[in-house]
Amino acid sequence: MDWGMKNRLARIIKPEDGRAVMLAVDHGYFLGPTSGLEEPRKTIAPLLPYADSIMLTRGVLRTSVDPNANVPVVLRVSGGTSILKELSNEDITVSIEDAVRLNVSAMALSIFVGSEFEKQTLVSLAKLVDEGERCGIPVLAVTAVGKDMARDARYLGLSCRIAAELGAHVVKTYYCDDFDKVVESCPIPVIIAGGKKTPEIEALELAFNAVQGGAVGVDMGRNIFQSDSPVGMIRAVRAIVHDKISVAEASKIYESTKGTKARRAAG
Ligand code: 5RP
Repeated sequence: MDWGMKNRLARIIKPEDGRAVMLAVDHGYFLGPTSGLEEPRKTIAPLLPYADSIMLTRGVLRTSVDPNANVPVVLRVSGGTSILKELSNEDITVSIEDAVRLNVSAMALSIFVGSEFEKQTLVSLAKLVDEGERCGIPVLAVTAVGKDMARDARYLGLSCRIAAELGAHVVKTYYCDDFDKVVESCPIPVIIAGGKKTPEIEALELAFNAVQGGAVGVDMGRNIFQSDSPVGMIRAVRAIVHDKISVAEASKIYESTKGTKARRAAG
């Protein structure tokens, strides 16, 4: 791995503890104005101080993130479909030149193992890895799951391993029972997505169990920006990931931030 690739990866997974807190705000690329992300700039700005990196599209990056914020960017470079159509029909949607121009620290692309367009997404991953290697930009593969697909260790293990075999540098997947087996059989760092909004305590448990199970961190979106205290949630999640605190301690951080100025305006 060359210097640029290592340096960019170090901006995502902190070398001090090998852990990562990513803020996922890329949902609009197929969901449109997702609840909590209607005005991305307003949602993102108060959360940035607590995120090691931010995962988003180039449209939201250009319009809604201050370049002076100096936050490492994981750029979503796959898309081309919407929630109204077959989700797996994705292609690469950003050129490597634009990723370089935007000074991104990694590029993210979804793979849809077992879906109609499985091959297309896997070949896109391999092509993106080639481009990333050429320019020293790591690739994060997202193991997307179709509506009717299982989220068990067998399936997620299959998806993560294929991503690693095709050359991805980091993989994002879901937490599941026997998650440690998914991690053990995947030779690259594993990060977990938060998934649909759940009660805060459950999202904190998810983050805790995932890092206990071997994940290097979280790439969490809805369970942060749809919370009644987004800042409280990201601070609590961050403390679980980096400070290795318990769920009960993290919950106190979340509770203590509720109702303060940092609370998101109602609605
Ligand atoms: C969508 C994504 C999202 O970034 C990912 O799902 C993380 O967000 P959330 O915690 O809301 O699930 O990659 O394909």
